[in-house]
Amino acid sequence: MESARPRLLIVGAGGHARVVADAAEECGAWSSIGFLDDRFPELRASGPWTVVGALAQLDVLATAHDELVVAIGDAKARMRIIEQLVTQGRRLATIVHPRATVSRHAVVGAGTMILAGACINPGARLGRGVIVNTGATIDHDCDLGQGVHIAPGAHLSGDVRVGENTWIGVGSCVRQGITIGDHVMIGAGAAVVSDIPSQSTAVGVPARVRP
Ligand SMILES: CC(C)(COP(=O)(O)OP(=O)(O)OC[C@H]1O[C@@H](n2cnc3c(N)ncnc32)[C@H](O)[C@@H]1OP(=O)(O)O)[C@@H](O)C(=O)NCCC(=O)NCCS
Repeated sequence: MESARPRLLIVGAGGHARVVADAAEECGAWSSIGFLDDRFPELRASGPWTVVGALAQLDVLATAHDELVVAIGDAKARMRIIEQLVTQGRRLATIVHPRATVSRHAVVGAGTMILAGACINPGARLGRGVIVNTGATIDHDCDLGQGVHIAPGAHLSGDVRVGENTWIGVGSCVRQGITIGDHVMIGAGAAVVSDIPSQSTAVGVPARVRP
């Protein structure tokens, strides 16, 4: 029966990748979990998990595994690799920690990572390659573009729209109905109470766009 479970290859072997590996292990859905990282062959392991190769070997190693997930924090780098994998027709794994809560009425894109204690409420739509980090919450009808990262402990009220590759900083919160653009950085601890334009950084309580 062991061989019936797919083998998982995680691209990246840093701290976030270990958290993703840990969530995948808790799921018990994969027969093996390995990392791919450019620090190979100097780096042979990251935590208890083996680094099986470098990024240059992605094609060969992707073929040797059944499913992949890209666990690189940098959204541009993450999405570039995801696009490459999708173009090649690879199977992207969606990792949902067994102690995260995801409504059956939410839509979660391929290659998305939902970590321990996170909560996704009904009507929420999450694009491809999204990270909902530890203890973050996404309330009803939120719309998260591809590559979005909701950092640990951040909270989105209902009906919030977040554009692609945007980072919502650790411990921040967003008022209901707000629109945050693409490629935005919301600082740690911010309270977002008005719309935030694309390509900006906003910090503070209330959050203001930095000049
Ligand atoms: C907003 C942020 C991106 C700014 O980073 P940065 O450009 O390197 O900024 P600096 O650290 O050089 O700080 C510049 C100024 O902004 C202030 N500042 C930085 N982050 C701030 C924040 N979150 N809230 C309020 N002010 C902040 C600094 O105090 C500093 O002010 P000063 O010029 O008066 O001294 C970063 O501080 C941040 O909050 N990142 C989110 C981290 C996160 O979510 N981590 C989760 C990992 S999973």
